[in-house]
Amino acid sequence: MNITYFGHSSFQLEFGGKTLVFDPFISPNPAAAQINVDEIKADYVLLSHGHGDHVADAERIAKQNGATLISNYEIASYYAAKGINVHYMNHGGKFHFDFGWVKYVYAAHSSVLPDGTYAGNPGGFVIWNDKDGCFYFAGDSALTMDMKLIPMTCPKLDFAILPVGDNFTMGYDDAAIAAEFIQCDTIIGCHFDTFPPVTIDHEAAKKAFEAKGKRLLLPTLNQQVEM
Ligand code: NI
Ligand code: MN
Repeated sequence: MNITYFGHSSFQLEFGGKTLVFDPFISPNPAAAQINVDEIKADYVLLSHGHGDHVADAERIAKQNGATLISNYEIASYYAAKGINVHYMNHGGKFHFDFGWVKYVYAAHSSVLPDGTYAGNPGGFVIWNDKDGCFYFAGDSALTMDMKLIPMTCPKLDFAILPVGDNFTMGYDDAAIAAEFIQCDTIIGCHFDTFPPVTIDHEAAKKAFEAKGKRLLLPTLNQQVEM
């Protein structure tokens, strides 16, 4: 499975023969200026919650690809009204798409769209199929006991994408505990270094995970990670 990092919490994954884009925040991100949003391919756009640093390019990418947008009921409704194909979900529910299962899970955070529209409760996604394995995209979340439900209710995780930048989400120390809660040894960090409050010490972050026998990857812009 090939993963491309577009900065902040934006990722593109090839999974189950489809191209999935998560939380696209590219055009407003100075650190991602070299990425041309017009060239981003997507069959599905998945949004964890409504904050601008997760949805900024969602409409553009969905429309230019005719992609289906997957999110909670409130966010999906908002984009459906803009003429985008959507799939509505809510916490604890899973659905089998043509690339695999998607389960929308709890995130401890907040959620509102940039224009003030109510955006429901924030979430994350656990995604799996028999061929490509299983991963967790946490979105923005605090460390929460609900993460312990993931290994109880989903297949074994091959990797997880967790926020590590602190201030708005878990910091890396809490994210290392989250890796234990979700019983996952390989973590891709996100939501770090984009703004001053989320700037982190990379070596200290990696050490926090190593101390628990876990591996933290901190991707660089446009980096392709093979999982
Ligand atoms: Ni947020
Ligand atoms: Mn955020």
